[in-house]
Amino acid sequence: MALCRSCNKPYESFISFGPTPIANGFLLPEQFTDEYFFELAVGFCESCHLVQLVNQPERERMFNDHYAFYSSTSNAMAQHFQEFAETTIRDYLPSPDPLVVEIGSNDGIMLKHFAKQNIRHVGIEPSANVAATARAAGINTVNRFFDEAAARDIIAEYGQADAFLGANVFCHIPYLHSVAAGIKLLLKPQGVLQFEEPYLGDIMEKTSYDQIYDEHVFFFTVASVNNLFKQHGLEVFDVAHQNVHGGSMRYIIGHEGTHPISAVVHEQLLYEEKQGLYQIDTYHTLRHNIERSRDALHDLLVNLKRENKRVVGYGATSKSTTVTNYCQITPDLVEFISDTTPIKQGKFSPGVHIPVRPYEEFQAEYPDYALLFAWNHANEIIAKEQAFGRDGGQWIMFVPRVEIQAYDLVRQP
Ligand code: SAH
Ligand code: TMP
Ligand code: ZN
Repeated sequence: MALCRSCNKPYESFISFGPTPIANGFLLPEQFTDEYFFELAVGFCESCHLVQLVNQPERERMFNDHYAFYSSTSNAMAQHFQEFAETTIRDYLPSPDPLVVEIGSNDGIMLKHFAKQNIRHVGIEPSANVAATARAAGINTVNRFFDEAAARDIIAEYGQADAFLGANVFCHIPYLHSVAAGIKLLLKPQGVLQFEEPYLGDIMEKTSYDQIYDEHVFFFTVASVNNLFKQHGLEVFDVAHQNVHGGSMRYIIGHEGTHPISAVVHEQLLYEEKQGLYQIDTYHTLRHNIERSRDALHDLLVNLKRENKRVVGYGATSKSTTVTNYCQITPDLVEFISDTTPIKQGKFSPGVHIPVRPYEEFQAEYPDYALLFAWNHANEIIAKEQAFGRDGGQWIMFVPRVEIQAYDLVRQP
């Protein structure tokens, strides 16, 4: 039995996806033989309601000098982070010469909006290649993992922060107690921490089990986040649901007692309770729904193959590594995966080894079906792929359910 990373109580796993490779570990044929696999399994802590991976590979296997995810590949996310930066400047940077710290700042997609206005900022980004891209764009970036020691170093060099930001990174860090202790030190008395991560409520509603992969060690709720930060004298005083990455929650946190708690926090806690997110039975139902989704997607692809249809994957996302491996989607079922990220192209997908090809190959000869791995970017993608739809191409969706859809019917889940 594993111990909860937040409250240290024992908990059990409710689902295993079996041996799974590194989600962003796109590789070349000469690397196939020594590819790394670990058991991807998820558990629910009945004491503090935190949902978490039972095992996570060591961090350097995931975050290194060839990290394959560049945030700026999505225009919609670029727009989203501009808005995040603008609301932060408006609401949380009242003092003269403020300091903004962002962890997991990647290629600088959000910090560039502070840099542009000459606002003092520090990005903490352990993956060297994406950190270098940010630096080249003039964004002050430190190439290391954030933890309590890093917080002390930042304070020594820059002083305390007015705003501490993160997106799709807090759920990546198993040693969250060290992170929270660091933030406690780093934040000015009125300073505010804001971070947003895929929300467990959405995963449950949409059976979006592809959010479960090596990097995502936590699947947060308002309750579990508050429980963790309270142990460090910090509390959630506001939350805001976001329609990105299939449904995310932004947590807005201050030193305990410094900000009035918004009614939205209470409403969201009620929603979580009603949805059963604090009860183990709900997770058994989730497992059942995931298994049904897996079987439906595999059967659909096998049937299309029998009919000699061409199926191509759209978006070699990290999430797709869970789907392809768990549903046994092999290269005989999906010819290749189209992706716009140069360092993924010419490589093979982790585990099942589907070739990843440049987007131009998708455009050059449209397949009969496109399996939309990047479903969280559906609006952006469907808008630019009208020609594929007019050509008779159809989309295979698997969130919130497995179905074939004509382009004019696809809705972003
Ligand atoms: N914030 C960006 C990037 C998310 S990907 C976005 O939302 O698009 C997660 C990023 O977190 C990666 O760039 C990874 O290198 C970084 N990361 C992982 N562990 C970290 C840690 N301990 N401290 C800071 N960044 C970390
Ligand atoms: P994400 O779902 O983790 O954000 O990853 C999206 C992946 O999909 C990334 O590798 C880039 C790719 N992509 C495309 O190939 N075309 C697109 O239009 C978009 C939006 C993403
Ligand atoms: Zn716990």
